[in-house]
Amino acid sequence: MKIAIGSDHAGFRLKERIKDFLRAKGHEVIDFGTRSEASTHYPLFAKEVALAVQRGDAHRGILICGTGIGMSITANKFKGVRAALCLNEYMARMSRLHNDANVLCLGGRVLGEDLALSIVEVWLETHFEGGRHQKRIDLIAEVEREHL
Ligand code: RB5
Repeated sequence: MKIAIGSDHAGFRLKERIKDFLRAKGHEVIDFGTRSEASTHYPLFAKEVALAVQRGDAHRGILICGTGIGMSITANKFKGVRAALCLNEYMARMSRLHNDANVLCLGGRVLGEDLALSIVEVWLETHFEGGRHQKRIDLIAEVEREHL
């Protein structure tokens, strides 16, 4: 899978760990930065990753800031992007099964690295269930057309 990834300074260390993890599993990673722990602004990176997913340049996106909140708020401003802030494997699984989430948001300051990697693994391996959930995804698209 081709995966776009981005973080701010608070998510930088976890981003580097996740990149290694993804590459070891055979995924292609497109890293939109940041490149260090120097203070920066999370919307800059959320925008690039969201656009990559929206355009189809990446199959999925992963965004990391301190809490994951700013990244999820920003990424969800983009049509076609369904960004899910996940704190555990259950949320990661459900965000794929029911919400067909195409961007995963994580908090580098609230998750241990091993848990974060486990969340990433579950999120990448779980398929959208479709069925009644497709109707709800269609309704989200309707909201986007009417209000974005
Ligand atoms: C940076 O201090 C912090 O505000 C940011 O990483 C993120 O948690 C925002 O949602």
